Amino acid sequence: MTLWSGRVTRGLAPEVWSFLRAHDAGLLHYDIEGTRTHARRLHAAGILDDGELAAAEEALAAISLDDLEPGDEDVHSAIERLLGAVGRKIQAGRSRNDQVAAALRLYVGDACVEATAAVRALALDVLVRGKEHALTPMPGYTHLQRAQPVTVGHHLLAWVEMLERDLARFSVVADSAAGSPLGAAALAGSTLAIPPPDRQLRNSLDAVSDRDFALDYLYACASLHSHLSRISEELVIWSSTEFGFVVLPEAAATGSSLMPQKLNPDVAELARAKAGAATGRLVGLLMVVKGLPLAYNRDLQEDKTFVFAARADVASTVAALAALVRELGFDSERLAAAAGDPLLRATDVAEELVRSGMPFRDAHELVAADVREESFVAPDEVRPLFTSGPSSVHEAIAAARGRLDG
Ligand code: ARG
Repeated sequence: MTLWSGRVTRGLAPEVWSFLRAHDAGLLHYDIEGTRTHARRLHAAGILDDGELAAAEEALAAISLDDLEPGDEDVHSAIERLLGAVGRKIQAGRSRNDQVAAALRLYVGDACVEATAAVRALALDVLVRGKEHALTPMPGYTHLQRAQPVTVGHHLLAWVEMLERDLARFSVVADSAAGSPLGAAALAGSTLAIPPPDRQLRNSLDAVSDRDFALDYLYACASLHSHLSRISEELVIWSSTEFGFVVLPEAAATGSSLMPQKLNPDVAELARAKAGAATGRLVGLLMVVKGLPLAYNRDLQEDKTFVFAARADVASTVAALAALVRELGFDSERLAAAAGDPLLRATDVAEELVRSGMPFRDAHELVAADVREESFVAPDEVRPLFTSGPSSVHEAIAAARGRLDG
């Protein structure tokens, strides 16, 4: 029996029923929470008496995933069914339209908290490795050509910057998801005098149809995955025999089924690939909402597919990369030898000439001519390994740790 069998009495064709049903078990927990809030509001309005509110709260607390049945159109109808007699009263002043929006907002809020904890832990793991290798020289690249010397600490701090921006994004998304559509009912509010929820959204038509918070979340996930993908690509390159900058830990590397000597960076490769689906989900939901007339449309049921998958991929990718990073071996000698390539000091030599008064373009041409004629000689003194002196790598790591802990 559907919630709308009062209007449509003939049974649906089975293939239509299975097409319409929502794959929304992930929302159950959040819809229970939203229903509890609604029950309390109905009680405050005198629509549920004390006994009915207690019965509703008790029944809600007992609901689990095992209670869902194939005959439920979605978790909202399942909850109404499972609440029994009080379930027949609970839908006063609300609709599945404000209900699903409320549940998804709670879901996204939780997903942001989860992503924040995972990304912060990964960034702290990266910082630990950065501290160990704060001053280990390595070549810095542009165009994947050796450019100027940096240190491993300096490089890993760049990863942390990316991750910190992702953390900031998740915090903005959590805030944008925190408004409540409850009270909007189907689209136009209700004639029942039910007290408004905290942070009630201003416009009921917008409240039931807005999925910007889900899009913001998918964008935050896509951005995170694009950063993880860039980091992964560096791990793939660095672990190749040609570079040999890092050795993959056995806890996070795979062998070849055919070639006995191989240690493959499958973790980094899969993490690199996840950015594709993450971006696809953002574009996918944008395409779902584009052109939708106000207010609710069933198209919006598709939002959950994207959001659920995004949460799962963030959790698994960040955890696997963190395990890799924690035990990644850096080949300090090989890194230092590569960073010791005298040509990486060409810019420093040009800057030395600038310090003695030569225009930079003249200095550039002079040094370039030396390089071309293979007569370039790098000076002996050690180049400062970080923009403002070697000690600042340690300072930057301490500062980043303070931001992440704080
Ligand atoms: N399962 C639906 C969804 O996910 C809930 C809302 C259904 N509303 C409706 N008017 N049919 O969007």
